[in-house]
Amino acid sequence: MISNPLRDPRDRRLPRVPEPCALVVFGITGDLARKKLLPAVYDLANRGLLPTNFALLGFARRDWGDEDFAELARDAARKAARTPWREEVWERLAGSVRFVQGSFDDDNAFDQLAATLGELEGTHGIGGNAAFYLSIPPAMFPIVLKQMQRTGMADSTPDRWRRVVVEKPFGTDLASSRELNALVDSVFTADDVFRIDHYLGKETVQNLMALRFANTLFEPVWNGHHVDSVQITMAEDVGIGGRAGFYEETGAARDVLQNHLLQLLALTAMEEPVEFSAEEIRTEKLKVLRAISLPEDLGTFAVRGQYEQGWLAGQRASGYRQEEGVDPESTTETYAAVRLGVETRRWAGVPFYLRTGKRLPRRVTEIALVFKQAPHLPFAATDTEELGNNQLVVRVQPDEGVTLKFGSKVPGSVMEVRDVSMDFLYGEQFTEASPEAYERLLLDVLLGDATLFPRNAEVEASWAVIDPLEEFWAGTTPHPYRAGEWGPRAADEMLAAEGRRWRRP
Ligand code: BG6
Repeated sequence: MISNPLRDPRDRRLPRVPEPCALVVFGITGDLARKKLLPAVYDLANRGLLPTNFALLGFARRDWGDEDFAELARDAARKAARTPWREEVWERLAGSVRFVQGSFDDDNAFDQLAATLGELEGTHGIGGNAAFYLSIPPAMFPIVLKQMQRTGMADSTPDRWRRVVVEKPFGTDLASSRELNALVDSVFTADDVFRIDHYLGKETVQNLMALRFANTLFEPVWNGHHVDSVQITMAEDVGIGGRAGFYEETGAARDVLQNHLLQLLALTAMEEPVEFSAEEIRTEKLKVLRAISLPEDLGTFAVRGQYEQGWLAGQRASGYRQEEGVDPESTTETYAAVRLGVETRRWAGVPFYLRTGKRLPRRVTEIALVFKQAPHLPFAATDTEELGNNQLVVRVQPDEGVTLKFGSKVPGSVMEVRDVSMDFLYGEQFTEASPEAYERLLLDVLLGDATLFPRNAEVEASWAVIDPLEEFWAGTTPHPYRAGEWGPRAADEMLAAEGRRWRRP
C-alpha cells in the first residue's frame, strides 16, 4: 500500500509528553480545580507525562504566597488523585508551583502574571509556552480575556504557544454562545482554544469509536435498516450539591443535554472520519449535530421534570425546591428527556431518545442501540414471550463496558427463547486503570491535540437544538418525580406513545 503523505505519522500508542510549558489556572479555589484539575496534574506527573520543565500557576484574590497555593494543591491532589501517593513526585512538582494574587480587574496583577511567566522561562525553562485554564464563571471571561490581550499573554508566536481552556457552559443559548465564541476568538486563534466537554475524555466514549470503526461486526447493522431506536441515558443519583446558584439559572437541558448528551449522540450517529484527527472527527460530529431534528409535538416528545422529596438508597432525600439556595417555587428542571431525529440516510426515521436527571435511582450513563425485531419468528408465540429486542449497550459509567443482549434457548426439552446478555467489562479485560477524563484532556491541551474538544460550530449547532426546547418550556412548570424514581410519568408516556419503553439500566 502506498502511504498517504497527508497522514500524520505520529504513533498514538507511544506515551506522548508535552513540550516544556506552564499551566495557569484561574479559579483555583473552586470545586473543579480542587476535585479534578489539581489531582489530574499530580496524576500526570506521577505517570511521567509532564515535561521536566513544567510550572503550575494559580491566580486568585486571596492574600497567599506560593507555599499556600502549593499546600492547597497538595491537599487537593492527596484527596482525589487516582494514582498512588508518592511524596517525591509531589516535591518535584511543588518546586515549580507559583501563585499570583489579584482580582480580575487588577491590571497590576495581570502584569505580574505576565512577568512571572517571563521569569519562569529563565528559572524553569518553560520555553514561553502556557495554557490558561478558565475555571471561572462565564460572566468573568470577558474581563480575564481582555487582560490577557492587553498584556500580550494570549499571543502565540512561532517560538511559543499560548492556549486557553474554556469550561462549559459555553453560553446559555445560541446568541450568547456566539458572543462568547466571538470574544474568545478575538483574543486567541481558533486552534489555540480548547473547549472542555469532559465526557469526551471518558475512556468508554472514546471506545465508541474503536467499537464502531475498528470492527467489522457492528457497522453493518449500525443504521436505520436494523436499529429501531437509540436511547442515551445520563442518570445521576446525586442532587445539585452546593451548586444551587449555578443550577437554578441553568437546569438539566443547558447543563448536560446541550453538551454531554448531544456529543454522545454525535459520536453514535456520525460517519467514519477520514482519519483519527481533530479536524476529521469534528467535521463528522458537526454534520450529525446539524442534521438533528426536533419533534413537531414538543408537548409529548420533550419532557422536563423536577425531583420532589423521596427515598434514595434507604435515605430520605429532600426535594429540589427544598435544597439550600433554591427558590421554593423554582421551575428549573432537574430532569430532561427528548426525542430527536437525525436526518441522514443512515438514521432517517430512527428516534434518538435522550434523557438525563438528578436524584434518579442510580448513577449510570449508557448508549443503547435497540434493534428491530426479527421479521419472522418460526416459533409459537408462547415460545418467545420473554424475547425482547436485541440491544447493544455501551456503558460509559460506572462498570465501563459493552453488553450485547440477544435471545437464547432456555435449556430443557421444550422450546423457549429468552433474553440473555454477553458482557465485556473493562475492569476484567484490562489491567490498566482508565485515566480520569480531566487527566486525559489536560494532557491533550498541553500537547495541542484538539481531537477530543468540540469546536465552536459544534457548540452553536447544539444550542440550535436546545433553544427551541427552552422556548417551549419557558413559563411552564416541570413534571414532578420523586427522588429515587426514574423521572416523571410523562417521560414514560413519551415512549409509550410510540410503543416503546425506557430501559431500566
Ligand atoms: C457536569 C454537570 O458537566 O457533569 C454536573 O455540570 C454533573 O451537573 C456532571 O453532575 C456529571 O459528571 P460525571 O463525570 O460525574 O458523570
